[in-house]
Amino acid sequence: MKTSKISKFYEKPLEERLAIVKEFASLTEEETEQLGKYGALGFETANRMIENVYSTFPLPLGLATNFTVNGREVLVPFAVEEPSVVAAASNAAKMSSGFEAKASEPVMIGQIQLVGAKDAKKAIKAVMKNEKLLLGKANEGDSTLVKFGGGARKIEAREIRTKRGAMVILHLLVDVRDAMGANAVNTMCERISPMIEEMTGCETRLKIISNLAVHRTVKAKTIWKKEVLGEQAIEHILDAYEFAANDEYRACTHNKGIMNGIDAAVIATGNDFRAVEAGAHAYAAMEGKYRPLTKYRKNRNGDLEGEIELPMALGLVGGATKTHPIAKINVKLLGVKTAGELAEIIASVGLAQNFAALRALANEGIQKGHMRLHAKNMAITAGAKGERIDEIAGQMAEEKNISVTRAKEIMEGKK
Ligand code: MEV
Repeated sequence: MKTSKISKFYEKPLEERLAIVKEFASLTEEETEQLGKYGALGFETANRMIENVYSTFPLPLGLATNFTVNGREVLVPFAVEEPSVVAAASNAAKMSSGFEAKASEPVMIGQIQLVGAKDAKKAIKAVMKNEKLLLGKANEGDSTLVKFGGGARKIEAREIRTKRGAMVILHLLVDVRDAMGANAVNTMCERISPMIEEMTGCETRLKIISNLAVHRTVKAKTIWKKEVLGEQAIEHILDAYEFAANDEYRACTHNKGIMNGIDAAVIATGNDFRAVEAGAHAYAAMEGKYRPLTKYRKNRNGDLEGEIELPMALGLVGGATKTHPIAKINVKLLGVKTAGELAEIIASVGLAQNFAALRALANEGIQKGHMRLHAKNMAITAGAKGERIDEIAGQMAEEKNISVTRAKEIMEGKK
């Protein structure tokens, strides 16, 4: 029986950690070796990914444990530089009753900007009259996407009034299946633009995907039982949530915490985290006011219900997901077959991360946990090894005197 409920993963020696991941994800010897290499992205691969490569920039890769999403236990890879993020998500997942998540159809928006319209309404009519023809043309060059059940689905048009005159904005809605979609959508927009110019007499300018993927969203929810969390903690979390729901300064940080987990998992799978970030924040501001991406309420039993909803444009085909050796292993570890399934796990991670932050902030405060880690880092910097690290860190935390100097003093036996 595969289980994501692994306790004290951090206390196990590296070999054992790798063996757990290998077993869970049925990795090959070669894949497991890659993970153990700490530099799997060689020059040749990196040089094919971007320009002017002179090195690589590694991030720690941690394993978030205890997640159950839609009844399946999953281990989630986190590529992140910030301490506490992995532990917080794992702990929140452990306390939850499991996540239920649902991704929408993978429909992305491609935008085409039309300028120079003498009569915007007439231009819109001309496009809409030919919608079928344009969709056919858009799909013409993308037989693979169409074969897999995707393709251009719909065109929407509207006028915007700007200080440089009226413009017509077209949205080409494309089901991109398991691709992130930028390439397919951008190509389609460029392909149909000459026809649109002919139909409307306008000039087409920008032809580009929108990262505000309102048709490609994901929802996740879970319950934290009052018996696990405690009634007072629930009240405190609800107060913390109301703060974010009514104050943009707080909502921004609240959402930053959500993205701590989301980005970490998005990066670990080789996906475009800037696209997900941009989409998330624009979505949070859709109602004209910047809002938290999560919602919390107390249900009839007195348990805490949490929910998250945001756009999630992720791909499993193309891009770094397929070229980055560790990203490929991470996708295998997650055991996902579709981009939607991946989005469902990552949205659950975002909710768990947010819950963990609210729980810590609204109760004991965030610094206590941070300080424990900080103290450990200081002890290690001072040269402590093995069990001594925790002993020295513990003593410094107790004394509320955390520094390398103090760590050295304790090591030298100074009281
Ligand atoms: C720190 O990276 C994230 C938090 O600030 C999130 C929050 O305040 O909700 C702890």
